[in-house]
Amino acid sequence: MQWVKRTPLPDQEELSRLYKKLLVTGGCGFIGSNFVRFVFNSRPQCHVINLDALTYASFKDNLADIHDHPQYRFVHGDIRDRVLVDQLITECDAVVHFAAESHVDRSIMDPEPFVETNVLGTQTLLTAAHKNGKVRFLQVGTDEVYGQLALEDPKAGFTENDLLKPNNPYSATKAAGDLLARAFHHTHGVDTVITRCSNNFGPYQFPEKVIPLFITNLLEDKKVPLYGDGRNVRDWLHVLDHCDAILTVLEKGKAGEIYNIGGNNERSNIELTSMIIEALGQSQDMIEHVKDRPGHDRRYAIDATKISQQLNWSPTRSTWPQALQNTVQWYVDHQDWCQSVKNRKFDQYYEKQYGKQHR
Ligand code: NAD
Ligand code: DAU
Repeated sequence: MQWVKRTPLPDQEELSRLYKKLLVTGGCGFIGSNFVRFVFNSRPQCHVINLDALTYASFKDNLADIHDHPQYRFVHGDIRDRVLVDQLITECDAVVHFAAESHVDRSIMDPEPFVETNVLGTQTLLTAAHKNGKVRFLQVGTDEVYGQLALEDPKAGFTENDLLKPNNPYSATKAAGDLLARAFHHTHGVDTVITRCSNNFGPYQFPEKVIPLFITNLLEDKKVPLYGDGRNVRDWLHVLDHCDAILTVLEKGKAGEIYNIGGNNERSNIELTSMIIEALGQSQDMIEHVKDRPGHDRRYAIDATKISQQLNWSPTRSTWPQALQNTVQWYVDHQDWCQSVKNRKFDQYYEKQYGKQHR
């Protein structure tokens, strides 16, 4: 399969840090499902338990090819379920915690599920990790916790020492999760590592996020709703580069540390949109400027010097335009998947978010 590249196995010295049994939370979502597949391709000794509540953003079928793998087990459950989480953690030597409410626009509509999962759910897992005493806990975090940079800011990107200044309810709850992980390390000695990554792109992303939303709209002959002036900037990283970085931090990261992960690939939304339209051979007239997202962060950028210098990681799959074109092609080739995830419930969300007129 074109998306799967093998990561070389670590040398003998590092083998002692390989984990054999992972509890992956949120493994049926976008990044989690890519991660589970990535683990089985690059670490054949690994067993994976995938704990996922199967919210609107997830699809069990994202891992249909893995389902019967003898080292894979799916558990349909909630990370806030203390009894379940306590029991699963005793079976594992590491937790990779992806499960989250992840869409900024939805957090603006209703922040409650974000607090429930991203804060309380993370605390439940950390408490279980503390009780268990032996597991390594990797908190999958986001660059959004640092707030925003101005377009003209000369700073190359956020560093791990920057203050946390989350600007929307989603990023505020992710910052709370990170701070809990930090506190459980400091107070209880839990072996935590935190990653903070920039915007991901690639296969299996739920089409509420800008790249798959715009591709699937265009495939349905619908216009694409570009917020505000379209000059906001994001740093795009291919999801498999993110998976590779997470595995690197899991195996080589130092307890209690934070590692930023970025693609070194900053693009304005208008540039991104034009590239998607071009890749699909459509007209730039398909862009419709709509009301801006409230509190819309202007620019995210990551300084990934630490992970590059200390853990020898850098992205290899994120180069544009080729990587973006491959992603567009994946959605073109998987229109059945797109249609099944853009169901009636999604239509209701779309109308609430973008208004009746934008259809
Ligand atoms: P996603 O929304 O696609 O998937 C989230 C998964 O978590 C889903 O499978 C969902 O069912 C599951 N989940 C939600 N609540 C749960 C609960 N209470 N119990 C168990 N499972 C639950 O998200 P994603 O884009 O794959 O993001 C994964 C993680 O990576 C998140 O923590 C997110 O903050 C972080 N992150 C994402 C990006 C990005 O660009 N997508 C970038 C940096 C960091
Ligand atoms: O930076 C990492 C974060 O990236 C992750 O932590 C989040 O989970 C993930 O959702 C993503 O957040 P963003 O808000 O940056 O992603 P989104 O795809 O929603 O939007 C990307 C940019 O595109 C942003 O500037 C808003 C703009 N946009 C988005 C949508 C959905 C539009 O112009 N129109 C849209 O309809």
